[in-house]
Amino acid sequence: MGTKTCETNRANGAAAPRIEIMKAGPYAVYGAPELHLQTIETDEAGVARDFRPGRSFATRPEPVHLCRCGASKNKPYCDGSHGKADWDPALTAPHARRPEEVTSYEGPGVTLLDDEPYCVLARFCDAGEGIWQAVGHTDDPAVRKEVLREAALCPGGRLKAIDKVEGRDPVGQSTELGLIEDPRMRASGGIRVLGAIPVIDPEGIAYEVRDRAVLCRCGQSHNKPCCDGTHLRVHWQDGLAEPVGELAEV
Ligand code: FES
Repeated sequence: MGTKTCETNRANGAAAPRIEIMKAGPYAVYGAPELHLQTIETDEAGVARDFRPGRSFATRPEPVHLCRCGASKNKPYCDGSHGKADWDPALTAPHARRPEEVTSYEGPGVTLLDDEPYCVLARFCDAGEGIWQAVGHTDDPAVRKEVLREAALCPGGRLKAIDKVEGRDPVGQSTELGLIEDPRMRASGGIRVLGAIPVIDPEGIAYEVRDRAVLCRCGQSHNKPCCDGTHLRVHWQDGLAEPVGELAEV
């Protein structure tokens, strides 16, 4: 399964992808980005190690409407259930990052930026002693490489690692959407947005474009449109993937 870049979409005659949030309704997705299941793979300790791509879903004809309330019987698409579902569609997240909420951790090989409101509890940062402690040991090339890898996998963009040795942010530029599945926690997560896809509120105001984000699709986040990890606490499942493993507490 490949990834589509903005250039590829333009070559196919589609506009660059964008997501428009409908008032008290679904996400309207334009530009036909790839959309597929992305399952969090964990090791024996339950630490998230990677995303495994899975089944694809159509994003044509555009726009496709993706469920935002969590109640559709035709997930990932909207079926109009938002009109009767028990959810609060209010969008309460700020439209731009708040610099005062970003904490910087300086290590010998990496600067780690931590913007906690964007945490979706995906747990790529939990390996070993934890990424915040590991930053202090990034004079070791193997530790540096692992810190960069874990931060790049942080789907909500809470963590961003700057490589002091090669001077770059290792996050790729692919443009696609993912439906997060977290079988270890018997839950489904939000919509993983990769590659600086604009997200626009019902008033036409764009959110700050970030290289990655996760949008809530369970309808229960307290920081909409962003996912805040509440899907784990309520063990929300979209029915698109088989849950496996022991029920873990959050
Ligand atoms: S999908 Fe709703 S809080 Fe994560």
